[in-house]
Amino acid sequence: MKTAQKYAHLALSWVCIGMLFSCHEDQDIGLDNTYQFIRPAHFPEPVYTFENNPVTKKGFELGKKLFFDPILSRDGSVSCNNCHIQGTAFADAQQHPLSVGVEDRRGTRNAPSLTNLAFMKEFFWDGGVTHLDFTPTNAIESEVEMDESLANVVKKLKAEAAYPPLFKEAFDIEEITSPYMLQALSQYLAMMVSADSKYDQYVKGEAFSKEELEGLALFEDKCSACHAGVLFSDFTYRNNGLSDTFPDEGRARITEFAGDIGKFRVPSLRNVALTAPYMHNARFKTLQEVLDHYDTGVVDSPTLDPLLKKRERGLGIALSEDEKTKIIAFLHTLTDRTFISDTRFMNR
Ligand code: HEC
Ligand code: HEC
Repeated sequence: MKTAQKYAHLALSWVCIGMLFSCHEDQDIGLDNTYQFIRPAHFPEPVYTFENNPVTKKGFELGKKLFFDPILSRDGSVSCNNCHIQGTAFADAQQHPLSVGVEDRRGTRNAPSLTNLAFMKEFFWDGGVTHLDFTPTNAIESEVEMDESLANVVKKLKAEAAYPPLFKEAFDIEEITSPYMLQALSQYLAMMVSADSKYDQYVKGEAFSKEELEGLALFEDKCSACHAGVLFSDFTYRNNGLSDTFPDEGRARITEFAGDIGKFRVPSLRNVALTAPYMHNARFKTLQEVLDHYDTGVVDSPTLDPLLKKRERGLGIALSEDEKTKIIAFLHTLTDRTFISDTRFMNR
């Protein structure tokens, strides 16, 4: 077997393991896996329901077109890409600490980075959405984001000459409906896999500098109980001590349980050096400020995470300046230039 062919087969095996459906090892996929969802070997199984919505070139490209199209907002002024920009790993750009929607309306939360969504079971800072297909609905219908109804978006898409044939080609349907629109967006979103950072190279055997290695050891000791595994989150909801008052109740907004007040989803830290500002409320501008918070800023409250109460001299995670510098050096290894410059995601 030629080397290139071997790689294609290797990639296909990953797809098979990752997707457990419609996999034919002997199928001739050619060497172009541009539109294949490929699970990186060191990642867990994806949870996205690809069996109901397999990624295809036409579906992905349609999802991309929708992602960049302000037609999804009420006044045609805001697209998904306004708040989720590839250069910052699909987080918001610096200038919008809290998201800005139609008519410059301010949201109350910082737009998260969109990465490795196919591996996530729950979405948003409070886990209020439990399937990737329903994440856009929230943005489209939110008054402070796109302020539009799904039904009206569908109506507008039907009236726009370009769209009906694109839906027909992608899904073989005669009439555009909102579930297909959401599936197209999901095909684009689910392909956003970030797995080629310096850290990933390290996992595969490349070297780290001394400072990065020490930073990794400190991170494993002090942070990885919550920011766990290759996705850098255990996807639980926790209070990391930002405040003792909670204008945004976080997880309790979904569960209506007082014990969840002030708890937010542990965010993935992939590409974190690009995704400032930090925390659900965009409280911190830099990673240094984040580490200063864990060191000396943690505030007690009934739901503060027990892991942040252990410290001998008060609350939080004791860190020297030298340790902070090393952890920050490690966090920079999570930046994935391949992902942010991947032309498949660009609106060309
Ligand atoms: C006005 C800014 C804005 C626009 C426009 C916007 N989003 Fe978001 N997005 C956000 C914010 C803020 C959150 C976090 C919401 C929360 O936690 O309640 C978010 C969360 C998400 C998430 C969940 C990510 C995660 O890790 O849980 C996905 C997926 C997403 N948006 C996709 C989209 C798509 C697709 C569109 C276009 C249909 C879109 N967004 C439009 C601001 C925006
Ligand atoms: C007890 C669990 C826990 C521990 C331990 C912990 N974190 Fe966090 N971290 C969280 C939670 C929860 C959030 C989100 C809080 C919010 O937005 O309200 C968060 C947010 C962050 C963010 C902001 C990410 C973003 O996208 O906004 C960074 C950076 C971060 N933590 C780094 C660290 C580092 C570095 C350590 C170790 C020194 C650490 N964390 C230890 C739970 C934890």
